[in-house]
Amino acid sequence: MSIAVYPGSFDPITNGHTSILRSGLVAFEKIIMAVLVNPRKNPLFTVEERMAMIREASEEMGIDPSRVEVDSFDGLLVDYCRHKGANVILRGLRAVADFEYELQMANMNRHLNPNVETTFIMADDAHFYVSSNLIKEAAKLGGDVDALVPKSVAARLRAKVGA
Ligand code: PNS
Repeated sequence: MSIAVYPGSFDPITNGHTSILRSGLVAFEKIIMAVLVNPRKNPLFTVEERMAMIREASEEMGIDPSRVEVDSFDGLLVDYCRHKGANVILRGLRAVADFEYELQMANMNRHLNPNVETTFIMADDAHFYVSSNLIKEAAKLGGDVDALVPKSVAARLRAKVGA
């Protein structure tokens, strides 16, 4: 079975992430959505909340639950991949600003474990500028971000920041 690990902070999952997930399922039979336990930035949502939102989003999308696993990880991503028996990391690429960061991560991961390969899927143009950080900022300031996130995330964001 072709398995890819799609890692991220997912704080929270956005429509950009879900579009990468949908495309990823064209290429892979199973995708493990792996939520990083301790992102560098202070997360708005707990790991459990972030995992619940991913589950709710894939349910909203009508994805066969056997094709998506939602999990969390700490430590090195390549070690997590080995532990899960996956040798592909899936990442989404948006505007050029993502490129350098992604290139650095992909090269570091290849250095750490040459048996794990990173693949990229281009975000579709509607989501080229959607990011969790901007969504949180806009929501905190009272902006309407409902069209940019799954329904359950919009509700949880509102509850969290009173947007
Ligand atoms: O959604 P993000 O914050 O861009 O995701 C970043 C993530 C989780 C993919 C990255 O921080 C990560 O893999 N962290 C785990 C630690 C690790 O393996 N570091 C070395 C490779 S860069």
